[in-house]
Amino acid sequence: MTRQGAPHPDAPEQAHTDFTRSLSYGDYLQLDILKSAHQPVTAAHDEHLFIAVHHVSEVWLELIIRELRAAMTQLEGGITDAPLKGLTRVVRAQEQLTNAWEVLKTMTPADYLQFRHAFGQASGFQSAAYRHVEFLLGNRHAVLLKPHEHRPEVYGPLQADLLAPSVYDLTLRLLSARGLAIPSEVLARDLTLPPVLNEDVLAAWLQVYRDPEHYWDLYELAEKLLDVEDNFRRWRFNHMTTVERTIGFKRGSGGTSGAAYLRRALGTVLFPELWEIRTRL
Ligand code: HEM
Repeated sequence: MTRQGAPHPDAPEQAHTDFTRSLSYGDYLQLDILKSAHQPVTAAHDEHLFIAVHHVSEVWLELIIRELRAAMTQLEGGITDAPLKGLTRVVRAQEQLTNAWEVLKTMTPADYLQFRHAFGQASGFQSAAYRHVEFLLGNRHAVLLKPHEHRPEVYGPLQADLLAPSVYDLTLRLLSARGLAIPSEVLARDLTLPPVLNEDVLAAWLQVYRDPEHYWDLYELAEKLLDVEDNFRRWRFNHMTTVERTIGFKRGSGGTSGAAYLRRALGTVLFPELWEIRTRL
């Protein structure tokens, strides 16, 4: 209380309490809707954790998609500094995604078996948000659209990303616009496939990496893309080990060989020349 008996400016009595005419916290964030999506189908204690970690991951993935798209629009317009801010946010969000495994790892195989039967063939393999991220980053295979055929509103935007240039395609176009020699077959490549290492593209990157002062913005962009791929690898690795410690080498609910499939995916390379350059420099 202040001297006259009025509440101190920092006291909780000063807080807004009448929300008949303005949005409250819960209204603005639509927390009722958010909570209504949390619907365990068994009485198993750990199913709550399982659902929460998936929900949180999906929210981060949506944010990553949004930031990647914004950065790609800037790259398309020839801007190289502004995308770094968005890509840095992607990197930070990826860290949150990867940290989620630390919470999920507290679930033992026995805990998981209490509710595994409840979700049948559902699997993160069918996460449209994850596929958008992969397609935007360039890891593309048309077959990955198939689980979404029954939902045209999901299939359509995913297919559009499969057919559009990835963040790396846009980066190589930028290099070409700057006068670096990117072969025409790379600029006009089949966008539905993942990129393959090209010696001429590597030579262009070597030119950038051997003279960073001259190509500073492109050099920074390349290193930021490498951060994104580095974090993507960490997420994949932590997913794979979490899966292995939870279900061993049992088949996945999505129908793949499970941990063996995820191990193979660790070999995926998104930006091949940016890794190879470390060896060639
Ligand atoms: C203990 C928990 C988990 C287990 C046992 C598990 C298991 C698996 C397995 C076996 C696969 C291979 C596909 C299949 O046949 O099902 C897979 C794929 C996948 N999971 Fe999980 N998962 C877990 C948690 C999560 C979480 C929290 C996420 C967050 C979104 C996630 C996202 C994914 C994605 C995106 C794929 C596709 C990966 C790819 O195709 O490269 N998983 N999961």
